[in-house]
Amino acid sequence: MIPLFQRGKELAKRGADVVGVDSSEEMLIWARQKAQGERLKVNFQVADALNLPFPDESFDLILSNGLLCFLREPEKALMEMYRVLKPGGELAVGVLNKWSPWAFFRRIKGLYKDTIYNQAYFISPPELEGLITRAGFDVKETRTCLFFFPINNRVYLKIEGQFERLDRRLIP
Ligand SMILES: C[S@@+](CC[C@H](N)C(=O)[O-])C[C@H]1O[C@@H](n2cnc3c(N)ncnc32)[C@H](O)[C@@H]1O
Repeated sequence: MIPLFQRGKELAKRGADVVGVDSSEEMLIWARQKAQGERLKVNFQVADALNLPFPDESFDLILSNGLLCFLREPEKALMEMYRVLKPGGELAVGVLNKWSPWAFFRRIKGLYKDTIYNQAYFISPPELEGLITRAGFDVKETRTCLFFFPINNRVYLKIEGQFERLDRRLIP
């Protein structure tokens, strides 16, 4: 399975017209550099998820990763996604599960470091399903995919698969 955050990249590689949006120009500069480094053609645009600058029914697929917990009105963003999605189109949403070790780790880190996650409202799977349904979508599938929190360390990254498998069993 291709992780959600990699799917836009995979689609661009296969020649799809991909548009990447974020409200932060800084984030897009970084994304543009990454895409250029991999010779991917992606149209990056600054945009507010609550007011997308696209006509109705513009897209076949929308991928939203790590966004909803930063919005005061996540339902409004989902309604915007519904508006710009073509009939029969698909939306894939990735959030940090409120009940996961990742969210716990982010909260602990926020106690001693100023991070954007201090302003986040983490969403649980049932809450997410409710938000998505209220925005007009039919939920086809829900799944958890990452279990252990990220440690950016070369040694850890070699063995992180084992932690993932263990956590998947302990806290599915
Ligand atoms: C945790 S990052 C996720 C970034 C990226 N989607 C990814 O998967 O790597 C959350 C992003 O949401 C963006 N964001 C916050 N509020 C937004 C809004 N109203 N509209 C669009 N993007 C927003 C932030 O600028 C930030 O880049």
